[in-house]
Amino acid sequence: MSGDGAAPVPVEKLTKKQAAAELKRLAAGIAEHDRLYHAEDAPAVSDAEYDAQRRRNDAIEARFRDLIRADSPGGRVGAAPSSGFAKVTHAKPMLSLGNAFADEDVADFAARIRRFLSLHEDETLVVVAEPKIDGLSASLRYEGGQLVRGATRGDGLVGEDVTENLRTVSSVPQRLAGAHVPDVLEVRGEVYMQRDDFAALNDARAVAGEALYANPRNSAAGSLRQIDPAVTAERPLRFLGYAWGEVSEELGQTYWEARARFAEFGFVLNEPARRCADVEELLAYYSEIYAARPELPYDIDGVVYKVDRLDWQDRLGFVTRSPRWALAHKFPAEQAQTILRKIEIQVGRTGALTPVARLEPVTVGGVVVTNATLHNEEEIARKDIRAGDTVVVQRAGDVIPQIVKVLKEHRKRGARRYKFPKVCPACGSQAVRDVRDAKTGEEEKVRRCTGGLICPEQAVERLRHFVSRDAFDIEGLGEKQIAAFWSEKRVQRPGDLFRLREQDEDSDTPLASCEGWGEQSAGNLFDAIEARRTIPLARFIFALGIRHIGQANARLLARSYGTLDAVLAAMSEARDPEGEAYADLLNIEGIGSKLADALVQFFAEPHNLDVVLDLKGEVAVEAAEAPAAQSPVSGKTVVFTGTLETMSRGEAKAQAESLGAKVAGSVSKKTDYVVAGPGAGSKLKKARELGVAVLSEEDWRAFVRS
Ligand code: IVH
Repeated sequence: MSGDGAAPVPVEKLTKKQAAAELKRLAAGIAEHDRLYHAEDAPAVSDAEYDAQRRRNDAIEARFRDLIRADSPGGRVGAAPSSGFAKVTHAKPMLSLGNAFADEDVADFAARIRRFLSLHEDETLVVVAEPKIDGLSASLRYEGGQLVRGATRGDGLVGEDVTENLRTVSSVPQRLAGAHVPDVLEVRGEVYMQRDDFAALNDARAVAGEALYANPRNSAAGSLRQIDPAVTAERPLRFLGYAWGEVSEELGQTYWEARARFAEFGFVLNEPARRCADVEELLAYYSEIYAARPELPYDIDGVVYKVDRLDWQDRLGFVTRSPRWALAHKFPAEQAQTILRKIEIQVGRTGALTPVARLEPVTVGGVVVTNATLHNEEEIARKDIRAGDTVVVQRAGDVIPQIVKVLKEHRKRGARRYKFPKVCPACGSQAVRDVRDAKTGEEEKVRRCTGGLICPEQAVERLRHFVSRDAFDIEGLGEKQIAAFWSEKRVQRPGDLFRLREQDEDSDTPLASCEGWGEQSAGNLFDAIEARRTIPLARFIFALGIRHIGQANARLLARSYGTLDAVLAAMSEARDPEGEAYADLLNIEGIGSKLADALVQFFAEPHNLDVVLDLKGEVAVEAAEAPAAQSPVSGKTVVFTGTLETMSRGEAKAQAESLGAKVAGSVSKKTDYVVAGPGAGSKLKKARELGVAVLSEEDWRAFVRS
């Protein structure tokens, strides 16, 4: 424990001199472990070992009160929350961007916007293009022109308070410059490091014997998230502004004008930026920046396009987490050559067997890659990928690395064609490919384990999904911990998590005594679980891991049904495909028959229902609130039919939904309003028969304004 391998002297036998020396050593050691844990995310000792060192320190201090040091680790206990930073809820969410790789995606982007806004063909759609800096985004809040808070993006809704660290960045203005500044302004932008600064920093770290950062992006992230702002201050970080959150007054009519205001306030902007009048100009800009990329002082991974007119940005709004009015056009993926050591099979939460390539480590675009996805067995057969092959791997942004091709000329003699397993490697059950099309006999691409509940990997993956960030968001539970909990039978299904603490209290092997855990980390885990006993309905649904039900669909369902009980009742009734409940389900815009069937099947399975009911007993599920409850259409079901004249169908739907209405595709007794334009046919007729209120487009606009 004291680091020299010898058994420690019992505290009561320590001489004063020994005690002083050991306290000194412990203070330095624990401070270093704290730093590695919080600042580097790279603990060097297990939690148990860490706890033991702290306990030893406390015991020695208790005996030699006069030897307690100014830098005693005891003084720091609880000073930092588990992540080291306080949480900040962003006044407006920090969004991400949709990605495009091909020129056609850019043309589609422009066409989609024109359609959504019903732009006349003579009308010019001006789009601003800027470089896409590869750093990490941050939000700076100014009140009365003074910087009051700086935060990381976090999950987009809640970030970390890194105010003091951001204050040390020289291109972050402490106060806004210019003749007139808004009362409130949240500036969003990128914190990054230039390539030469990064190289110099790594050289210095090499000389000091410190771990090197992999690339400028990681280096910027690590430097910003230092517990001690003095460390951040020594790092060559920079900031570029490119967007805003809450703002007390308009910054202009266009993004271009807003940029000019940003410059007046004292921010550095992404340059070169250009206003483009059509897709050709955007693509020309993209090519120029791509060619100039090696000469730029910092890493960029593409360019960003933004609709210039801010009133159009408002109308376009958002889909899930990205704005409709912006697009990231990424540069082609970087590639490298390496050896594929072997192919392994992973089992997902729905039983899908996914082949993974284990590679000789290779650096691709600044990141060391050791694994690549192989998608499915057809992909392996098509590319004829074999263990031992020399392969080309590529990495694009956050995407999992992929194998582009095999360099067959390097293939060793005797390399065997890969045989995809027909049984699950985790539980030995048959693994089968379902028939996708009964007529042609065409099979699904994915082979699935039929083991269901008995398959340990499926169970572990389901639990992993359950605790993941967008689901129950329980920190401190990674794959290793969950797999251990599962095999030790501590946690077999989600509800067990919420009984963990109570069980632990009566246990002969409390968690804190287990390998890799300590009092502190076990306590933190129980607290993290406790904090999730209340959960919004959409997260609850998403967490169940039902096939095809991602976050967006979970939200749709939550909004449509409101409460968990309503969902359960509806799913049970919807087992009758002729009944009204099934029709209602299909009537939710965005839910097609594939999704509806997956849902009904999931809830019809007795063991799934058991899991849900068990969990329901442990947590409080918050009813989904219809957004903007004050709107006259919130909670109402609306059907649009016929031709709309002042807006596209897409915009009408998005507007109705943003006001809390449900938009349905067909008219039923449950429809509240039918908005009918010229050419409306059978839906209008049905509305009249059922006595549903019918509005013209003009009525509708007046109505939603009221
Ligand atoms: S605009 C609502 N502009 O790229 C739109 N983002 O992949 C907010 N990024 O999270 C983003 N350069 O961290 C914007 N010129 C630029 C950017 C940029 C880099 C980053 C940003 C964002 C990510 C999305």
